[in-house]
Amino acid sequence: MDAELLVAHALGLDRLQLYLQFDRPLGEAELSTIRELVRRRGAHVPVAYLVGEREFFSLAFRVDERVLVPRPETEHLVETARVHLLGVRGAGGASPVFADVGTGSGCIAVALLHEVPAARGHAIDIEAGALEVARANAERHGVQDRLTFHEGDLLAPLRDQPDWGRLDAVLSNPPYVLEDDESVERGVRDHEPHGALFVEGSDPLVVAARLAEEALDALAPGGLLAFEVGLGGAGAARRRLADLGYAQVAVVPDLAGIDRVVCGQRPG
Ligand SMILES: C[S@@+](CC[C@H](N)C(=O)[O-])C[C@H]1O[C@@H](n2cnc3c(N)ncnc32)[C@H](O)[C@@H]1O
Repeated sequence: MDAELLVAHALGLDRLQLYLQFDRPLGEAELSTIRELVRRRGAHVPVAYLVGEREFFSLAFRVDERVLVPRPETEHLVETARVHLLGVRGAGGASPVFADVGTGSGCIAVALLHEVPAARGHAIDIEAGALEVARANAERHGVQDRLTFHEGDLLAPLRDQPDWGRLDAVLSNPPYVLEDDESVERGVRDHEPHGALFVEGSDPLVVAARLAEEALDALAPGGLLAFEVGLGGAGAARRRLADLGYAQVAVVPDLAGIDRVVCGQRPG
């Protein structure tokens, strides 16, 4: 699969065309482009960075080393939010509004706006470079007029905004990997942005827990907090949301059966 993606990319073809042009001879320039891609893949550079994009929720997202490569398990977060926001619209008739905290490539916010045409969103990231990629992806998919970009820590950039206290959803795929986690693949550790993945200390939920506290003030009553957790993290996350007073605390498994999304609603 990697080989097909790289060769197709080098030749400016899609994978199907590769099979349709199976016996096409390659010129020296094409071969040298392919060799360079193979060399970089051999150095564990993720394929998504080599070809410059990755599909997420059936949309193509531009990616480079400033942003995490979108993962399929994160689609469950989008689906959970989609169902909630469509429900908000049905009940109130107003435009639902959400915040995507740690937007990275913008995959969560852009996919959601694509799915819920009435919604508006705020995309926040602590890295200016990530926000540039997110903005390009919003433009690519024609949702830039409904998405506002903010640089800063968690929900802080929204504190003085009119939507503070009125958000229908706060969504996040926050960093949750511990530095000493040896299961992290070399390509991920060496090439994906460190601050997107790793947390300091020994608590994988340190960022998510801080977000859960802030979100209690940012959400409207009944508003949804939903965030992704790593393997084995859901139980502790549920307890923290319950301790903070969230209602309807629940967990959504991914396709591998791993509890992946933890959510709760601001009471009231
Ligand atoms: C795991 S990545 C998620 C990216 C994207 N939402 C996705 O699901 O593919 C986490 C993102 O959160 C950002 N981030 C980390 N700490 C943050 C903080 N304290 N406030 C805002 N963003 C933060 C990182 O820069 C990174 O883009």
